[in-house]
Amino acid sequence: MVNLTLLFLTLALCVASTVQRQLKLEEDINVHQNLEQQQDPSIVHYQPEQVHLAFGDSLQDIVVTWSTRSSTNQSLVNFAQDYVHDPLKSVSGSWQFFQDGGKQARTQYIHKVTLPSLKPDTHYEYSCGSDMGWSAIYSFKTPPAGENWSPSLAIYGDMGNENAQSLARLQQDSQLGMYDAIIHVGDFAYDMDSNDARVGDEFMRQIETLAAYVPYMVCPGNHEEKYNFSNYRARFNMPGDGDSLWYSFNMGPVHFVSFSTEVYYFINYGMKLLTKQFEWLERDLAEANLPENRAKRPWIITYGHRPMYCSDDKEYDCDGKLETYIRKGLPTLQWFGLEDLFYKHGVDIEFFAHEHFYTRLWPIYDFKVYNGSAEAPYTNPKAPIQIITGSAGCKENREPFSNVLPFWNAFHSNDYGYTRLKAHNATHLHFEQVSDDKDGQIVDSFWVIKEKHGSYN
Ligand SMILES: *[C@@H]1O[C@H](CO)[C@@H](O)[C@H](O)[C@H]1NC(C)=O
Ligand SMILES: *[C@@H]1O[C@H](CO)[C@@H](O)[C@H](O)[C@H]1NC(C)=O
Ligand SMILES: *[C@@H]1O[C@H](CO)[C@@H](O)[C@H](O)[C@H]1NC(C)=O
Ligand SMILES: *[C@@H]1O[C@H](CO)[C@@H](O)[C@H](O)[C@H]1NC(C)=O
Ligand SMILES: [Fe+2]
Repeated sequence: MVNLTLLFLTLALCVASTVQRQLKLEEDINVHQNLEQQQDPSIVHYQPEQVHLAFGDSLQDIVVTWSTRSSTNQSLVNFAQDYVHDPLKSVSGSWQFFQDGGKQARTQYIHKVTLPSLKPDTHYEYSCGSDMGWSAIYSFKTPPAGENWSPSLAIYGDMGNENAQSLARLQQDSQLGMYDAIIHVGDFAYDMDSNDARVGDEFMRQIETLAAYVPYMVCPGNHEEKYNFSNYRARFNMPGDGDSLWYSFNMGPVHFVSFSTEVYYFINYGMKLLTKQFEWLERDLAEANLPENRAKRPWIITYGHRPMYCSDDKEYDCDGKLETYIRKGLPTLQWFGLEDLFYKHGVDIEFFAHEHFYTRLWPIYDFKVYNGSAEAPYTNPKAPIQIITGSAGCKENREPFSNVLPFWNAFHSNDYGYTRLKAHNATHLHFEQVSDDKDGQIVDSFWVIKEKHGSYN
């Protein structure tokens, strides 16, 4: 009897202390959250963070974006060619209040300043912020003017906050001045909205050593979907008026076109986005394909997150058994398919990501390979060349390939890494696939050579 009472007492104590510990834990979390949310003037954060660059409406307009936890009522960038010795120019911009859609409704202020009409091919140093707090001094180089130069870019998708294996190498490359721009083909942070958008904040801080120095151009992926892509739309400022979901820009001999594949999959956010984007793409490509524009900028390169063709078994709709939405348009209706549109307007190269690997395809249209010739498939190809580069590194790890690889597969690797593109001139593009697993070794490289650009029809 005594033993039983003792046992009961011990059990009760155990339960009580567990409950107490749980309460204490919750209290700690609450205190922490309150501290962050209180916005008491003595502990507010006016200090800029998450600084990153993008091209504005031209390559000589550089857009600086950053966040502050508290309102500064001011968004300024001070800049000069030599920050310490030259008189500083000061440009002011705008800010927006951003509230994450999560339970805690965390808030921040996202600032945007455009440095307009900078000198081409010029090194600038800048600091952003307000009279209440300034960032470190960063620098960038504006691209040369006109079409006769050879842009270099790093291109990849699917880079997370955890396991961002390629990031250090990309940072080193960019600090050596290797790139004129970075293109991140969707899927950031995993996910920007996670943990009440703290993961997004952390990711933007992680890429700062890259993105505060080189324009960081983006498109949305499926991981940005939460709350109608609000984290993506608020944190990035891309050119044009497509809310950063679609836009294009000219860079040397290339016309780059960015679009959202997600408007095909999350139609719960509005069919309107899908139709608006499609109409915009039609107009943009038709214009880029005008003979006078093609003469100036012969290359058209697109990027969007989810691919038309892929080489793994588990995927949703691009394994050849079904018609990919991106490729053929909405199911059964077959409206707004992109393969025909891109073929008609003579798109040269299409970048995709989403599969966590790298694949180079033979020139392909409607499940048929159109090599330039048997000896030189990429010299004057008769269909667009598609590249899938989704292996920068994220917590969802690598994607396995199918045991039997499809016939369009020219090269594949599931090493973590990223793609380099150098657009030499009107006729020559060069591509390299960097393996981070193999310490920066180039595991694939190829030339695309085209004497004539235009519709394949
Ligand atoms: C910013 O402006 C608002 C409204 O004018 C004001 O309430 C707030 O105190 C200002 N904040 C700072 C930091 O100056
Ligand atoms: C989602 O955001 C877009 C702007 O990017 C807007 O046009 C659309 O109406 C929004 N959809 C919903 C359901 O709120
Ligand atoms: C395209 O070229 C590659 C490389 O020469 C070759 O393996 C492949 O069979 C060719 N495909 C067609 C349809 O000619
Ligand atoms: C274009 O670039 C390639 C590769 O660098 C070079 O071989 C070729 O001569 C260039 N063409 C012109 C017209 O400069
Ligand atoms: Fe994805």
